[in-house]
Amino acid sequence: MDFAYRLTFLFSMTAFVGAVDAGNPGLVVRFTQKGLDYALQGGMIALQQQLYKIHLPDFSGTYEFEPLGKVDYRFFSMAIRTVQLPSFQVSPIPNSGLKLSISGAFIEFDGQWNVHAQPINEDGSFNVKVMGLSISIGLILGSDETGRPTISPSDCSAHISNVKVQMSGPLGWLVDLFHENIESEMRNTLEKKICPEVTQSISSELLPLLQTLPVITEIDFISAIDYSLTGSPSVMGNWVDVLLKGEFFDISHRTTPPFSPPVMSLPPEQDLMVYFAVSEYLLNTAGFVYQNAGVLVFNLTDDMIPKESIVRLNTSSFGILIPLLSKMYPNMLMKLKMSTASAPALNIKPGNLTLLPVGNIQAYAILPNSSLAPLFLLQLKTNVQAKVAVNSGRIVGFLEPAKVEITLAHSDVGPFSVLAISEAVNYFASKILLPRVNEILNNGFPLPTIDHIQLTDFVMQTYEHYLLFGANAHYKYKRMTMKELNGHGKTDNEIL
Ligand SMILES: *[C@@H]1O[C@H](CO)[C@@H](O)[C@H](O)[C@H]1NC(C)=O
Ligand SMILES: *[C@@H]1O[C@H](CO)[C@@H](O)[C@H](O)[C@H]1NC(C)=O
Ligand SMILES: *[C@@H]1O[C@H](CO)[C@@H](O)[C@H](O)[C@H]1NC(C)=O
Ligand SMILES: *[C@@H]1O[C@H](CO)[C@@H](O)[C@H](O)[C@H]1NC(C)=O
Repeated sequence: MDFAYRLTFLFSMTAFVGAVDAGNPGLVVRFTQKGLDYALQGGMIALQQQLYKIHLPDFSGTYEFEPLGKVDYRFFSMAIRTVQLPSFQVSPIPNSGLKLSISGAFIEFDGQWNVHAQPINEDGSFNVKVMGLSISIGLILGSDETGRPTISPSDCSAHISNVKVQMSGPLGWLVDLFHENIESEMRNTLEKKICPEVTQSISSELLPLLQTLPVITEIDFISAIDYSLTGSPSVMGNWVDVLLKGEFFDISHRTTPPFSPPVMSLPPEQDLMVYFAVSEYLLNTAGFVYQNAGVLVFNLTDDMIPKESIVRLNTSSFGILIPLLSKMYPNMLMKLKMSTASAPALNIKPGNLTLLPVGNIQAYAILPNSSLAPLFLLQLKTNVQAKVAVNSGRIVGFLEPAKVEITLAHSDVGPFSVLAISEAVNYFASKILLPRVNEILNNGFPLPTIDHIQLTDFVMQTYEHYLLFGANAHYKYKRMTMKELNGHGKTDNEIL
């Protein structure tokens, strides 16, 4: 192991994703070697189809041949019959991009020949087997001004080790005499044609696919997530990290959150194809957006309380606990306006997701003319354990029931003991509010994926300030296996 390689390896093992000054990403998507290998298999199918499109131009020449003298030959109507790409690999080249190598590829094509020498004019057909074709190409990863990933080819080279031409027809033996000319002509032509086709395949198949990354994912009528790339993907020895903004924002009025993404130190996991490091920041920008939009408010009225509950939301029922209440507002229904006092923030630690929301409850009596009379204001604090899971490619959440601590902030109905109404408030919070919150959290939000890709085998782990989701990717359409890929067209067993 040379020094530079060792240094790269060390660096990649301890790589902190995101520099302190450059604005850390809210989400990191890491592709492992396994993920790159899988992606390449799909890419090879597209490339193989592209290679079938190679158009081989007619070519002709003259050959001095005793005793006939000058023989003019022409090769035409050439068509590719078989393309086989049995062996290929992709390797990350640190700080540079990816290197794609194809070796031992095989191409077979047919065509017609014509020779002309006074007084002969003969036609025939031929078959060409191109063996030991190797292609090497660099792929530079980047991002465009819309924050979508880009990929562009560099340094393409193609080499053919062996071309075998077989002639048939009455004068096939004659054409065979200058097969060396023909073979070298064909090798040169093909070597020149292959790189443009590979390049074309990358820009017409791979690039558009990558550009389907949903850089703005709408969540509801209030918010969307910004999944744009914050810069070029970073390539390490064992993986490629794509750094995304990973931020919820208000569709109608985007503002900068008053907190920044944390530094995420990803573990060197390699078992699955792709890993998503979802930071606290991404999740907490959701709280920030919904809090600012003023939608984290829940009005509780008596009709929402289960029939079997003996505590009703009315002044007679609460009057037992608050002496002055039933005197001031006899026999009236009440309303509790529950709201968060500040944006709820999730705290992620290994094995522990906690939410420490702070809220208010304003209680009202509903007067006979339907206007509201303020009764009292409570402040509440709680320590909620959160659970996170993946459901159909979406990250969904769930909050565990927790005890709510309340304090009296203000009363319009004289002093009373909050302890007395604490049980009722806790009952409302866990039986009515929590299920509704969980229903919303259960809708979750989607991870960013490109078209035709489905994620399966999800695993999740919690780290300091982020959640790590690992998954395998699958092409949604029925994928050809490599056997089918190589069996496409006519297979020549002699070659395999
Ligand atoms: C909750 O009740 C308050 C006071 O009546 C009202 O201003 C507000 O619009 C209500 N909010 C919702 C979401 O129903
Ligand atoms: C208030 O609740 C009590 C039960 O605690 C019930 O008997 C009464 O009918 C309720 N009053 C109103 C106005 O709903
Ligand atoms: C989880 O974290 C919270 C605060 O971040 C802490 O109060 C609680 O004790 C922790 N729980 C466990 C099981 O570590
Ligand atoms: C409703 O009734 C209360 C007291 O009876 C009164 O103070 C208030 O002005 C009334 N509101 C409306 C909108 O009529």
